Amino acid sequence: MKTNEYKSWKNLSKLHLDSCKIGIKDLFNLDTNRAENFSIEWNNILFDYSKNSINSEIFNELILLAKESNLSQNIGNMCKGEKLNFTEKRAVLHTALRNSNSREYKFENNDINSDIQSVLEKMKVLVNSLNSQQIKGFSGKVIKNVVNIGIGGSDLGPRMVCEALTFYHQPNIKLHFISNVDPTDIQLILKKINPEETLFLIASKTFTTQETMANAETAKKWILDFYKDNDAVRYHFLALSTNYTACEKFGISKENIFEFWDWVGGRFSLWSSIGLSIAIQIGWENFLNLLKGANDLDEHFFNTEFETNIPVVLALIGIWNTNFLNTKSLAVIPYIQLLNLFPMYLQQLEMESNGKTINILGEKIDYNTSGVLFGSAGTNSQHSFFQLIHQGSEIIPVDFIAEVNSNYQNGEMNELLFANFLAQSDALAFGKTKEGVISENPNIEKDLINHKVFEGNRPSNSFLISKLNPENLGKLIAIYEHKVFVQGVIWQINSFDQWGVELGKQLAKNILPDIQNKNNSSNSNNKLLNWYKKNKVKS
Ligand code: F6P
Repeated sequence: MKTNEYKSWKNLSKLHLDSCKIGIKDLFNLDTNRAENFSIEWNNILFDYSKNSINSEIFNELILLAKESNLSQNIGNMCKGEKLNFTEKRAVLHTALRNSNSREYKFENNDINSDIQSVLEKMKVLVNSLNSQQIKGFSGKVIKNVVNIGIGGSDLGPRMVCEALTFYHQPNIKLHFISNVDPTDIQLILKKINPEETLFLIASKTFTTQETMANAETAKKWILDFYKDNDAVRYHFLALSTNYTACEKFGISKENIFEFWDWVGGRFSLWSSIGLSIAIQIGWENFLNLLKGANDLDEHFFNTEFETNIPVVLALIGIWNTNFLNTKSLAVIPYIQLLNLFPMYLQQLEMESNGKTINILGEKIDYNTSGVLFGSAGTNSQHSFFQLIHQGSEIIPVDFIAEVNSNYQNGEMNELLFANFLAQSDALAFGKTKEGVISENPNIEKDLINHKVFEGNRPSNSFLISKLNPENLGKLIAIYEHKVFVQGVIWQINSFDQWGVELGKQLAKNILPDIQNKNNSSNSNNKLLNWYKKNKVKS
């Protein structure tokens, strides 16, 4: 049965019609304990979802929707290593990567925990040796720069985590990230570093991704131009990949390949050897704490009833907003400067996973799935796109994130930041009426009044974490990973493939000869291509 034929879905449609008459302000007036009743406290995290347009009836029906969607069975199937990613015939076992042997994981009847532990052990040795300056390049100089070359899931997660955990950086290694096929990206980094002191991590699950391979070849040429000896490659390149053959063909020796597996999706891979850059940057113990945080969250997700299960409730609120309030986007605003890249990381996680319209039966679906996710750190975003969030024609739900104890203390500034975090969700939910505008300024010019009115009734969630440390960051990331999974189950889509990125890649390959030759085979692009060729300065 299709999701929108479930009894709970139909009931939710009816409840939506009734709920239109009641605003978030009224919900708070009706229930003086609302913030208590619509929030979950768990393990140094407070998740407050009280400022949403839901009441208990809607909430209960959303829980029934999760049950009617066989969520528990789907969670079980994920853990059993069933090939949930059926279009690519792959299991979805990233939770095994952080489980430190506490749960048994089998894939095709093999216990995968021991494989995971042996790669972790190999990573640990390298991380500790690099951080204690024991790894030397081809000419004997100590490695001081590590450059991660990867894109998408092989870049965004590690890049975001490394920035978020700046406070925990180890002193001896400077980390760099290169992702774009725009040569500016690599050239600007290479200018800053010395080949004798540099180690490249080629991070690519497939080891075929166009951008990553182009950057890796450029880096290899840079190393070989310097040393003029092929042997240098094995001192300056490591691979993080599932594709041994391609890594070896590139010149990376077997012992320099840090393996992971087919059952780790690219956007869920920061817990695998793809996270090597993170471990180098924050040190081994901190990396283990990141994994521990995510594993604690997994335990919470697997073992908590839906009503108090953070990822489940977060997902259900998203379903209510998307499918019943008809919202089309989600803003994620961390009031923590170091989480500035978190929304960008979530863009891939949510939009590549659930930006789909074909269901698991191969049919086109007739309800909305994931919308546009965007965001950046508060308070900066308050001075750019918040106007639209407060008074724009489209309702945009917001997830706010803040911490209680920053590693960077300046009493009044931390309080000012926190005051802004609290103020924004209040302003969105409760707005300001005409009467409010007039009572603030009884002499206001009549024509100005409407401009100063805030309709309110705009939904948001708030996450408060005790501190942005490795463990809590691990939990936060895992919350969103599972949220995406739950929504995919309810929407009956495969959250783990990404066919939508293929066509562009294929066309780029076809168009490349047109750019290099005189002929233009492309019709729609003729004008652009001719103008490019006419204006291209021959190098
Ligand atoms: O953009 C498509 C994609 O396959 C992502 O899912 C993936 O994270 C990224 O490309 C990089 O892939 P790889 O790690 O194989 O280079």
